[in-house]
Amino acid sequence: MSWRKVHSMQGSTIKFISGALVVVAVSLAATSPKISRQHPGVLSADTLSQPSHFGFGRPATAAEIALLDIDVRPDGQGLPKGEGNVAEGRAIFQQKCAACHGATGTEGPNDRLVVGDTTQGGARRVKAIGNYWPYATTVFDYIRRAMPFNQPGSLTDEEVYSLTAYLLHANGLLAENARLNAKTLPKIKMPARDRFIPDDRKDGPEIR
Ligand code: HEC
Repeated sequence: MSWRKVHSMQGSTIKFISGALVVVAVSLAATSPKISRQHPGVLSADTLSQPSHFGFGRPATAAEIALLDIDVRPDGQGLPKGEGNVAEGRAIFQQKCAACHGATGTEGPNDRLVVGDTTQGGARRVKAIGNYWPYATTVFDYIRRAMPFNQPGSLTDEEVYSLTAYLLHANGLLAENARLNAKTLPKIKMPARDRFIPDDRKDGPEIR
């Protein structure tokens, strides 16, 4: 334990111990620094001269908040208007995604998006949308907020619906001629949906 003398004034000494404020008042004479009533141990004199705020920034506008408020829940709540299909998604994928995920979503160099058959040659089956993601709606949410990796937020809602349709189709979960929108997308049941169970383990060393 290390004691650090940080302030000394007219017979009273204030010391800090391990990050927590501990005030050792040798004498609480009238000339001692004032101790905050709300936060005993904190010297109000230290902060009195500072303004309550510094005048930086401004409240976010409704439009700015709307840009960030784009979460889509598992049940589809939050899905926007619009519609997409597999054919358009395939074309957009080649243009905006294939460079990183491969021509068919399996080649990389980045994450594999289509399960395909990875069991050939004893290779371990990888986790991808088709065998691991519990909700189809999350595919939409993720692409809309995070992809393309180098330009997130640049896709229109229609493009995201189409890309989601293409990826679900490529994973064998959606017919070629399906139309994907706020009504049809939440109805798709993912193969991994029931493979997740609530984690009720207690945190702590017993599970590490
Ligand atoms: C510049 C490279 C790049 C481009 C372009 C790109 N991605 Fe990605 N993508 C990544 C990387 C890197 C990750 C992994 C990100 C992470 O784990 O944080 C990823 C992850 C993903 C995932 C999650 C995979 C998983 O199972 O965890 C999806 C889905 C995805 N991308 C879809 C797309 C789509 C659709 C496009 C085209 C609109 C796209 N990406 C374009 C690099 C890219």
